[in-house]
Amino acid sequence: MNKFVNTIFHADARDLLAKLPSESIDAVISDPMYGTSRSYEYEWGTDPANGDPELHWEYHQPIYEECRRVLKPNGRLAWAQSPKFCQQFHDWFGDHRLWTLTRFRLAGKNATGHTWIVQTKEQEPVPMPDRDSLVIYDKIGPLRKLHPCIKTVEELKFLVEELTKPGEVVLDCCCGRGSTLLAAEHLGRRWIGCDISKRYSQIAKLRMDNLRSHMQSQGSLRAPTDFVADRC
Ligand SMILES: C[S@@+](CC[C@H](N)C(=O)[O-])C[C@H]1O[C@@H](n2cnc3c(N)ncnc32)[C@H](O)[C@@H]1O
Repeated sequence: MNKFVNTIFHADARDLLAKLPSESIDAVISDPMYGTSRSYEYEWGTDPANGDPELHWEYHQPIYEECRRVLKPNGRLAWAQSPKFCQQFHDWFGDHRLWTLTRFRLAGKNATGHTWIVQTKEQEPVPMPDRDSLVIYDKIGPLRKLHPCIKTVEELKFLVEELTKPGEVVLDCCCGRGSTLLAAEHLGRRWIGCDISKRYSQIAKLRMDNLRSHMQSQGSLRAPTDFVADRC
């Protein structure tokens, strides 16, 4: 297991997951292609589901089931999902809670909150914590050029903090530019990431190197702001 920890793989999630032992992961926090009305162009091509729920689930179900297999008993799963498919959520995921994280730009403009399916390995719902889910962010402009779907480190920190304890292992098997992994590193969790895109996995590695060298230069385990890690 140690050979996978704190590593970002350029791999298909299905291949990486097949190599991970059952019941080895404390939390899966992943933002797969969530199927908006828009067909996103990724570095390797277009979302094959193109907004169609059946095609979407045909692609994602094996990944989701493998994620549940590798979770420890009572392990937590957070899975970003477009509201477009809300009528399918119970069929696909069983019992869960929807966490909608409110997001505001520092400049005062609001942005739509992202929706996350949150449940245990056993498909028990995990309630929202009794604290604001407000995510305030800025300076994501340059990152938007590197990946079509932005998730900020701030948003992922909320989930990592609520769903895991220090030292636990977080898996993001569709890690894109690596925001989940940066959030985990920042908060003293261990992590495993992969993305099918060579370019995105390289960007994630670069951002992680930047975060780690910043944290080392500060002689501290915590960077003062999340944005430093975004200068890649
Ligand atoms: C919504 S994006 C994730 C964005 C990420 N949260 C971020 O902040 O950069 C979904 C990612 O899933 C990746 N992906 C799609 N199919 C995959 C697969 N079979 N295995 C691994 N990654 C996959 C895409 O390349 C894309 O980067």
